[in-house]
Amino acid sequence: MLDRLNSIETDALSALKAVADSAALEQWRIAHLGRNAPLMNLLGELGKLSKEERPVIGKRGNEVKRALEDALAAKTESLRRIEMERAMTQGAVDVTLPGRPLATGRLHPATQGLRKMYAVFAEMGFQVYRSREVESDEYNFELLNIPAHHPARDMWDTFHTTTPGVLLRTHTSPGQIRAMHDLGGNGTQPIRVILPGLCYRYEQVTASKDIQFWQIEGLAVGRGIRMTDLKGSLTDFARRMFHPNVRTRFRADHFPFTEPSAEMDVECFVCDGQGCAVCKHSGWLEILGCGMVHPTVLKNGGYDPSVYSGFAFGMGPQRITMLMHKIDDIRYFLANDIRFLEQF
Ligand code: PHE
Repeated sequence: MLDRLNSIETDALSALKAVADSAALEQWRIAHLGRNAPLMNLLGELGKLSKEERPVIGKRGNEVKRALEDALAAKTESLRRIEMERAMTQGAVDVTLPGRPLATGRLHPATQGLRKMYAVFAEMGFQVYRSREVESDEYNFELLNIPAHHPARDMWDTFHTTTPGVLLRTHTSPGQIRAMHDLGGNGTQPIRVILPGLCYRYEQVTASKDIQFWQIEGLAVGRGIRMTDLKGSLTDFARRMFHPNVRTRFRADHFPFTEPSAEMDVECFVCDGQGCAVCKHSGWLEILGCGMVHPTVLKNGGYDPSVYSGFAFGMGPQRITMLMHKIDDIRYFLANDIRFLEQF
């Protein structure tokens, strides 16, 4: 019995020397310390031995078992170290390789255009005033001098909601009334604001018109504001926005909430007024509608029109951004096509 124990020990330890990786080590553990290992079988048979033999063989058996377990622990540790060493040399990072370029994000072209316009107006002393997108018929039309059933309503095809009198604003002009109520101090305070935001029109979607689009409204109210202030301010805006020498022109137009009303054109900045496809060979680009705030609208905003006057304008910042970048379809703005967005 003692001889068998000795040879079990020598065999196991010499087999362990040949083990080179953790898979083989597990095989070794099963073969030499597992349930059916020769040592375990032998220890299981201790009961059959005589009273004198049992403690001697039992003691030696436990010594062998502990020797194998210690050898296993030592081997496990040394294999772990070898395998770690190998992983460090084979999987080593080559610090001299050039880095991978990161894709950097950027602002949406429409946002870039908007921010430029906010910055220009901020320099000119216009505060940003935000107004609601869901409006009442009263603010979107009536208080702007467009009564129910008036034919001028045809200029704004409207999304109505299921609640009578509640609609999606068709322009940012209702914000004029809200700004006057909110900032006007019951018709005593001057106002100089821009009102940017989304508007909605129930129209056929085309390359130049979407049902959802941005507008920037402008409103200045005070004593002695005249048409020349309107022309000067908007021409100054165009020069700061496009080119210090850009020319502008005003053409008579009609809006129910301004009198007189006009449209402003800027000299085509694509061809410098020579005539090209962008300006349809006219040399001019129409960029906004404007006018002197109608006395009725001033009154609706809480001002006395015999003392106060003002000018207002409304522009399409997406249209301006399209002109500046020669973007030929407004639908690109909301299509989220990375090939389009990456160009800006
Ligand atoms: N609200 C007008 C539109 O949407 C634009 C405008 C605003 C015209 C302010 C004059 C003054 O067409």
